[in-house]
Amino acid sequence: MEIQGARVLVSGATGVLGGALARSLAAAGARLVLTGRDDARLQALAADLGGVPAVAADAVDVTALRAVVDTATAALGGLDALVVASGVVAFGPAADADDAVTEELFAVNTLAPMSLVRAALPQLSDGGAVVLLSAIVADAPTLQMAEYSATKAALSAWASVLRRELRGRSLTVLDVKPPHVDTGLVDRALAGSPPRLPEGHDQQALVDTILEGMRAGKREVAYDPKAGELVLR
Ligand SMILES: NC(=O)c1ccc[n+]([C@@H]2O[C@H](COP(=O)([O-])OP(=O)(O)OC[C@H]3O[C@@H](n4cnc5c(N)ncnc54)[C@H](OP(=O)(O)O)[C@@H]3O)[C@@H](O)[C@H]2O)c1
Repeated sequence: MEIQGARVLVSGATGVLGGALARSLAAAGARLVLTGRDDARLQALAADLGGVPAVAADAVDVTALRAVVDTATAALGGLDALVVASGVVAFGPAADADDAVTEELFAVNTLAPMSLVRAALPQLSDGGAVVLLSAIVADAPTLQMAEYSATKAALSAWASVLRRELRGRSLTVLDVKPPHVDTGLVDRALAGSPPRLPEGHDQQALVDTILEGMRAGKREVAYDPKAGELVLR
C-alpha cells in the first residue's frame, strides 16, 4: 500500500511503539486518527502531530471500539489501514497465575484487537492493511510468560486465518512479532516481575520495518535471533 495520503487508525497510540508508529506514519504522509486509553497523553500526541483527531477508549469496551472506528471513518472519509499497538504483559509461573489478570491479558491482547479489526473491516479499502502487534513469544512461548505468550499466539493464529479468508480483498494482514524492545512495557506489568530479558532491539528499526512491511504487503515481521535482525516475510 501507499502510505503517503493513507487514512490510518492507530490504536495504542499512547504507548511507546504505538506513538512511534504514529509519528513515523505521519512523517511518511499518512492521515491519522489516534486512539489509546490515557486521554491526556493521547491529546498531547495528537496536538504534537498537528491536531489530528484522537478518541480515548478502553480496549475492553467493545462498544467504545466500534465508536472509535466510526469516528475515524467519518473524520478521514474512509479507512485504508488499522494499526493495533495496544497490549499488556504479566509475569510469573503458569500454575500461580491470577484469574483476573489472565482475563485482562486476553481481553486487551487478544479479544480487543479482534473486535477492533472486525469493526474496521467493512470500512477498510481493498488493498489496505491491518497491522497487529503480537510478539516473538507467539512462536516461542517463554517461561514466566505463559499467559502473555498464549494471548499473542492466539492473536497470531487468528490473524493467519483472517489473512487467508480476506485474500479476495488484497488486504495486507501484517503480524508483527517483535523481540524485546526497551519501551518500559515490562515495568507496567499487570503482575509479577520480568525474567532476565535480552538486550532490547532498536525501536526505530522495528517501526521502519513495519512501515516497509505495509508498503510491500508482507504478512509477518519476525526476528532472526542468530542474525540479530528483523525479517520481513
Ligand atoms: N516492548 C516490547 O518488548 C514488545 C515486544 C513484543 C511485542 N510487544 C507488543 O507491542 C505492543 C506495544 O507495546 P509497547 O512496548 O509500546 O507498550 P506500552 O508502551 O506499554 O503501550 C501499551 C499500549 O497499550 C495500551 N493499553 C493497555 N491496556 C489498555 C486498555 N485496557 N485499553 C486501551 N489501551 C490499553 C496503552 O494505553 P495507555 O498507555 O493509554 O494506558 C498503550 O497505548 C503490545 O501489544 C506489546 O505486547 C512489545
